[in-house]
Amino acid sequence: MNKPFDISLDSLGAGKAGSNIPAVRLAAEVSPDETRNPPAAAQDLKSFYLETFGCQMNDHDSEKVAGVLLGRGYHAVENPADAHLVLYNTCSIREKAAQKVFARIGDWKTISQNKVIGVLGCVAQQEGEEIFERAPWVSLVCGSASYRRLPELVAQIEAGGRRVMGLSLDTDETFETEFTRRDNPLRAYITIIEGCDYSCAYCVVPHTRGQERSRTSDSVIGEAQRLADAGYTEIQLLGQTVNSYRDPSPRGMNFTALLRAVAAVKGIRRVRFTTSHPNDFHREIVEAIDATPVLCDHVHLPVQSGSTPVLRAMKRTYTRDEYLEKISWIRSARRPISITSDFIVGFPGETEKDFEETLTLLDEAQYDSVFAFKYSPRPNTPAMSMPDAIPEEEKSRRLAILQDHQREIQTQRNEKMVGQAFEVLVDAFYERRGQWAGRTTSNRIINFPSTAPNLLGQYLPVKIVRGGPNSLAGEYVG
Ligand code: 5AD
Ligand code: SF4
Repeated sequence: MNKPFDISLDSLGAGKAGSNIPAVRLAAEVSPDETRNPPAAAQDLKSFYLETFGCQMNDHDSEKVAGVLLGRGYHAVENPADAHLVLYNTCSIREKAAQKVFARIGDWKTISQNKVIGVLGCVAQQEGEEIFERAPWVSLVCGSASYRRLPELVAQIEAGGRRVMGLSLDTDETFETEFTRRDNPLRAYITIIEGCDYSCAYCVVPHTRGQERSRTSDSVIGEAQRLADAGYTEIQLLGQTVNSYRDPSPRGMNFTALLRAVAAVKGIRRVRFTTSHPNDFHREIVEAIDATPVLCDHVHLPVQSGSTPVLRAMKRTYTRDEYLEKISWIRSARRPISITSDFIVGFPGETEKDFEETLTLLDEAQYDSVFAFKYSPRPNTPAMSMPDAIPEEEKSRRLAILQDHQREIQTQRNEKMVGQAFEVLVDAFYERRGQWAGRTTSNRIINFPSTAPNLLGQYLPVKIVRGGPNSLAGEYVG
């Protein structure tokens, strides 16, 4: 959860922390340990509990999964003990994320009678049938590339199926549902491309989410229009490599054309997109942002390392200089565009010199925020068997140095913002301190006081009065 007055390094940007809106989120996190399993008779067979781990793609997949279940007459409950169907939509990007999922599944070992426990998403795809061996109380295992089959799989469960599986990756279609439950009342997600055709040496995604496949532009624009009609003003386009989008329909739109088309939908005031791959980041994206105020002035452009040899070993398909050239396009735009990034420290073979190159890249790029991770070896990835592993303590040391360095950069950047006014979309209220929080188009969070009864969902001008390393404090200047 975000801390109300302390914007952590990772709260600005494209990751999950950046999308948390504590005051308006509906999902409850209750561990089965904290509850008791009710007797069979008390259980409603059409009740479900769905907990999501990982990225925004997973958050949105869960919204669609919930939509499928609601469409079949199910209803959501906030406490897993009250649910007949308990589902975990899982993440396996780093080992810790996967361990967390197994701990959660393990909670049900002795108390899963009368319940259907299901594992969805990346861990499901990665571990497959193994999950039934390790946790025989699980009866549904389904990877994200098979979600289109969910109604059929749920029907098998309803008919008493005990080991129901959806693990095929050879789908050439995307997951579209007639109904999507929207968990965030202010920002609506639209997946435009699923899977990934890159093969970064450290990454499980190509294995867990399969080949890249784009939705048709008609389908995306139609969804944006329906969201606008339903009152949404902010849309976030999603994809593992969102800017690799290629319209499969005869219209043949590229990513920039789609951006412009979604921004033109009447009623939409903000369009975001994440995550961009540097290889497919072209100048015309910056030109589109410059020319279209509805396109938010924020680009999340993960670099992973500042060292060309490490980038090569990671199979990132660009050099440090090529990446920095793209940063310079963004920095020379007519309106300031905030830039955020992802880093991995301690990739096998990363030398002290390589790491120093990452630090100098921070200086050159002047990011507004970064997410940084210690390299975590993952099954089915080429990096798993690479020599020269970096010891855990050394990875921790590098991570701390990187974060300290970036904190200084952010302090300077945030202090420079004092006195400037920005429009925020108010998305949270922190009762204890009487503070509201809103996001600028550049995805910065500004906290400001107001005694107004309800500002949620309003666009307001706020002037920055203080800027710390991780936070911006403002005042309403309406
Ligand atoms: N170890 C550490 N970090 C990873 N990421 C992806 N795979 C790994 C891994 N094996 C990070 C990358 C990516 C972000 C979503 O997660 O920085 O951009
Ligand atoms: Fe993973 Fe690389 Fe694809 Fe991103 S581009 S999802 S890091 S393989």
